[in-house]
Amino acid sequence: MERLQKVIAEYGYASRRKAEELIKSRKVKVNGILVTELGTKVSKEDIISIEDNVINKEINYEYYLLNKPRSVISSVSDKEKRTTVVDLIDTKTRIYPVGRLDYDTTGLIILTNDGTLANILMHPSFAIPKTYIAKIRGELTKEEINTLNKGIKIDNRVVNIKKLKIKRKDLEKNTSLVEITIVEGRNHIVKRIFNELGHDVIKLSRTNYAFLNLDGLKSGDYRKLSIKEVKKLYSLK
Ligand code: URA
Repeated sequence: MERLQKVIAEYGYASRRKAEELIKSRKVKVNGILVTELGTKVSKEDIISIEDNVINKEINYEYYLLNKPRSVISSVSDKEKRTTVVDLIDTKTRIYPVGRLDYDTTGLIILTNDGTLANILMHPSFAIPKTYIAKIRGELTKEEINTLNKGIKIDNRVVNIKKLKIKRKDLEKNTSLVEITIVEGRNHIVKRIFNELGHDVIKLSRTNYAFLNLDGLKSGDYRKLSIKEVKKLYSLK
């Protein structure tokens, strides 16, 4: 058992002094009951709220960057018992993927238990750029490239394409490798862009997410993000 003001301070909510003021000004409840006594002792199990907002217990945040293989599902669990991205990470913490890659899409995906960062990264207003390499059937005509650069409409909403580059054409196999950078995260968006122009996507991989890339990570490998990288992701807000 610890003094309430000490626990509030340990959770990082306020300094001990400020915590004492909050208690005295009748803003703190323990298990839903108003507490005004400074000496009140609480345990880790008690639920502390300040102005009716439950304050977070100490949480150790974890951040991973995974090179997702094919045939792995981007969710925490799967009814069909398929391998999930979370299964590939060796941790006991309840982490989850930030956004999704399709079952057959490979490449860069972030996993964390930090909901604040996940929300920032997924929020459309922060427009985080993501780069994909798509192997498509056929080759893009000049008109199609123009259409893409002007902004193609999917479900009546324009997709803003930040960068488009034809990396390679295989005339024999009738395929092309296209690098595309977009800032949005609608489901299957890259496949839908190319499908809209009549090109099937045969393979798709995400190579970059904001300033992050897959350098040194083989398929199925992962690494922790550094504190510097996490701070930089936060600063994208
Ligand atoms: N766009 C897609 O079509 N699939 C993905 O997995 C990601 C983006």
